[in-house]
Amino acid sequence: MGQDNSIIIGCDHAAFELKEKIKKYLQDKGWQVIDVGTTGPESVNYVDYGKKVAGAVSRGEFSKGILLCGTGLGMSMVANRFPKVRAALVSDVFSAKLSRVHNDSNILVLGGRIIGDILAFELVQTWLDTEFEGGRHLKRIQDIDN
Ligand code: RB5
Repeated sequence: MGQDNSIIIGCDHAAFELKEKIKKYLQDKGWQVIDVGTTGPESVNYVDYGKKVAGAVSRGEFSKGILLCGTGLGMSMVANRFPKVRAALVSDVFSAKLSRVHNDSNILVLGGRIIGDILAFELVQTWLDTEFEGGRHLKRIQDIDN
């Protein structure tokens, strides 16, 4: 299990630059970032990287992960196939917040061709800062896996 301050991150070529910027943003704030790639702008298959991050979260090795591709759509489709993964594709702060409060999302998915750097940092920060509310939402998220 990764430490509480560790987070796993992965992307494809379409979001490589944004992934690098988010990694630095997190490291500057003291996070231990486990980067599973990709490591450059050459074309790759997003499924491979989505499986690495979602698999690690599904197995309980990390409590949180971040995935990025061009739109975020492919990565969220891959990630949400994994048991116990609740991946949230967001591009606005309200959804980033509510994905934690109501859905206890454990993977944040971003579209590198959709959002800019500053918004991406704000979405990441909001998502990390927001706690799950529990209560009536607990059974609902449990029912996703049941
Ligand atoms: C890559 O061209 C693109 O298809 C990928 O990054 C992602 O947007 C897929 O959903």
